[in-house]
Amino acid sequence: MGDRWYSEAVVYCLDIDTFADSDGDGVGDIQGLIGRLDYLARLGVTCLWLHPIHPSPNRDDGYDATDFYNVDPRFGTLGDFAELLHQARNRGIRVIIDLVVNHTSDEHPWFQSARSSPDSPYRDWYVWSAEEPPDRRQGMVFPGEQRETWSYDRTARAWYYHRFYRFQPDLNMANPAVRAEVKKIMSFWLQLGVSGFRMDAVPFIIELTEPGNANSPKDLDLLTEFRQHVQWRRGDAILLAEANVEPDQLPVYFGDGGGSANRLHMLFDFMLNGRLMLALARQDPEPVIEALRDTPALPVGAQWATFLRNHDEIDLSRLTAEQRNQVYAQFGPDEDMRIYDRGIRRRLAPMLGNDRRRIEMAYALQFSLRGTPVLRYGEEIGMGEDLSLPGRQAIRTPMQWSFKENAGFSTAPPDKLVRPVIDKGEYGYQTVNVTAQRRDPRSLLAWFERMIRTLREAPEIGSGSTTHIDVPMPPGVLAHRADGPTGTMVFLHNLGTEDVEVDLSLLQPEADQPIDVLSDRGYGDVGKLERLQLAGYGYRWIRLRRGC
Ligand code: GLC
Repeated sequence: MGDRWYSEAVVYCLDIDTFADSDGDGVGDIQGLIGRLDYLARLGVTCLWLHPIHPSPNRDDGYDATDFYNVDPRFGTLGDFAELLHQARNRGIRVIIDLVVNHTSDEHPWFQSARSSPDSPYRDWYVWSAEEPPDRRQGMVFPGEQRETWSYDRTARAWYYHRFYRFQPDLNMANPAVRAEVKKIMSFWLQLGVSGFRMDAVPFIIELTEPGNANSPKDLDLLTEFRQHVQWRRGDAILLAEANVEPDQLPVYFGDGGGSANRLHMLFDFMLNGRLMLALARQDPEPVIEALRDTPALPVGAQWATFLRNHDEIDLSRLTAEQRNQVYAQFGPDEDMRIYDRGIRRRLAPMLGNDRRRIEMAYALQFSLRGTPVLRYGEEIGMGEDLSLPGRQAIRTPMQWSFKENAGFSTAPPDKLVRPVIDKGEYGYQTVNVTAQRRDPRSLLAWFERMIRTLREAPEIGSGSTTHIDVPMPPGVLAHRADGPTGTMVFLHNLGTEDVEVDLSLLQPEADQPIDVLSDRGYGDVGKLERLQLAGYGYRWIRLRRGC
């Protein structure tokens, strides 16, 4: 593995509270996670991204912290966390944590002090307006659940700004004391041994909010400052950011244009995510080809993070209304599968009709595209969602470990669980669980293990360049290649249902004993690449050439 470990990583994200409960109180905890590290190591995960771990009233699943220097007592202690880092490192697994510093909980002592008096030393840590801002009903992130972005606080006798829910007051990044505090928070966790941060809501962190100005200026240099700080404290630490902005605005999040990335190391590729969903819905690779083509060139050292599902809704807001409706029609036909007028609150397996071939093809495609793949817990066994739960909780149900009560997640009485386990139907834990799949070499879990092992043997996928192979293809088929110093991989993915034959003989001159390294079935020899069979929803990863 090269210096840039994040280019060749496999990231797995999870919420400690729904992963594994070691003490039977119904809430997952750090010890529970430690007990499952071998499972993650076997799967091939090299980096864990933990959703917020701090004490929190949990009105937004921990994205509302009351103390950035501690872990939620429901999860354990700081001592447990240090042990987790040690045990993970022993298995070659790094840990990054969510850094949610756009806002705090309104119960955070800083906000309590800030609201209590204009003379509080924390008053200027938040964003206030004495008058009612004219744009107070603009810019909501959670339409339907949030009515305004400025709320009046009677104790403070002033309006405060909150880009997200009203219980999440925004910190004032224009205040040097706040910036210094954020750096201190980063230092603290780096010192404990985390390998970096998933930075929440970056476009809003850098916004220097002015009441009445819906287009407040953004201070991108703040990202340079954070990057410098992180890198001085720990040379190999990374910043992986959530910045769901228009594609042409993305490059400045990576760097200031000076050649190499001097701001964020990685960004989630939201644009690709939306286009992938459209491509799957239409059974047509064109949107992915467009995404590959439209991807802005990245500065040296910058990297995408790809995903099919994360802990939030699938955000389709960057598609046109017509495209969005096509995705809805296929993957979110019922009103209660949709959320915030822009997305879908479902897991991938049910969206794809629990069609095993299609699920494999979709994940093989994600993992073979440029960037570092991020996998959400439970996807590796094909978990479903629980639409009876409100909002995004539908996709945040406990991990399904076994046939035991509560899916082996916890020994607490079912009514004491942090969230109910899925215990009915096709996706109930009686059918979908780790134990069952571990015993079965043909299971989805076994497939993920194999696929990830194959990926690790082809580092050009993560750190090389990815291009569309632009030759005539049967409808539904995407051909692309990854090139790097380690060689060349060629990929075929059939998004459609028809069996087809593909001619890639133009690649023959480059080939050096080409061979299938991963495929949905045994296809026989690749021959001269001129008559490659490909089943409906099939895929083939072919090693074309080995490099140095
Ligand atoms: C990010 C998180 C989301 C959270 C929000 C507010 O978008 O992904 O889960 O609700 O920030 O912190």
